[in-house]
Amino acid sequence: MKIKLSDNKVFFENNGLKKEIHPFWLRERVNGENFVDKGTQQRLFDPTELKGNIEIKNVSLSDRYLKVTFDDGVKTELTIQSILNEFSNISDIKFIEKIKWDSSLNNLNSFEFNNNIFEEKIMYEALISFYKYGFVIFKNVPTENNFIVNFANSIGSIRRTNFGEFFNVKSKPNPNDLAYTSLSLAPHTDNPYRNPVPCIQILHCIENEVSGGNSTLVDGYTVTEKLKKDHPDYFKILTEIKVRYQFIDQDVILEDWSEMIKLDENQNFKQVRFSPRLDFVPLMDKEKLDLYYDARNKISELYNSEKYRLEFKLMPGDLLMMDNYRLLHGRTSYDANEGNRFLQGCYIDYDSTEGKLKHLKRKFNI
Ligand SMILES: [Fe+2]
Repeated sequence: MKIKLSDNKVFFENNGLKKEIHPFWLRERVNGENFVDKGTQQRLFDPTELKGNIEIKNVSLSDRYLKVTFDDGVKTELTIQSILNEFSNISDIKFIEKIKWDSSLNNLNSFEFNNNIFEEKIMYEALISFYKYGFVIFKNVPTENNFIVNFANSIGSIRRTNFGEFFNVKSKPNPNDLAYTSLSLAPHTDNPYRNPVPCIQILHCIENEVSGGNSTLVDGYTVTEKLKKDHPDYFKILTEIKVRYQFIDQDVILEDWSEMIKLDENQNFKQVRFSPRLDFVPLMDKEKLDLYYDARNKISELYNSEKYRLEFKLMPGDLLMMDNYRLLHGRTSYDANEGNRFLQGCYIDYDSTEGKLKHLKRKFNI
């Protein structure tokens, strides 16, 4: 892509296509301390208060800079690179390619914790790994009670839910969720009934004295791509039918409608929701429901297949951070009489990890 000038107009040229850059688009981007706050990079002027038909009075181009004088008397010098960056119009995160994995994955993406890690380059590497695989494990995280809150808030901000700022995962009497029992939990995504669904779950192992209670992870991206290839009709219906997910407690009823496989505007993978104890398909034609039920059975079979499941034991000090839009998680059953199993969990959203990743990228000039 190139920037070119002609008759006091600025053009960008891409793959032989030449288009004018709107003068107002350039006027909005004037820099310098009278126009942009140095610290926040926020505008010190309101572009909606400027006249709309601003024109360029003078313009010149060098290797690195575009110098413009507008007809309202304002001058600016923009770097060519900053203009080109804006045309790419894709966030850094989307450049990180997802790596599909199944049970043969033998690298558990572990990073050693230290107290300064949140400002170190290793955290940048851990976050890149998180976006590639959908999960990352930190080892030797202090097992102090509630440390998970410090951890989450050191990446970004904790996402509070009606389960509290964080939740304790251990078997307890009269549980309001099967997570708080010693039963096995089949692979599922958390909180499909929330709007929006929490993006990332963090689980911190404090105690694990039992022989069972292994953690399981499944890559929803790998599985749905497999379904798309082998059973396109199943894939299609699961990306089309909006299902009602619900959670009912004494104080609250949470409900959200969504496709089981959600695609983005380019028809690429965006999110999976799977929790077959909480989903209610709408009443549709019998033939359509036949197809839907077959599709749900098939995806359930894949999600529950050993071929796609990682199984490992979280040890005290292990902290697992997983993408709740991409991965399913579960655990094997355990015998609570064997000893304690105590995990603490909480949620954060993508703005936390994206914000931290971009900050570290800037800090280390990567
Ligand atoms: Fe869960």
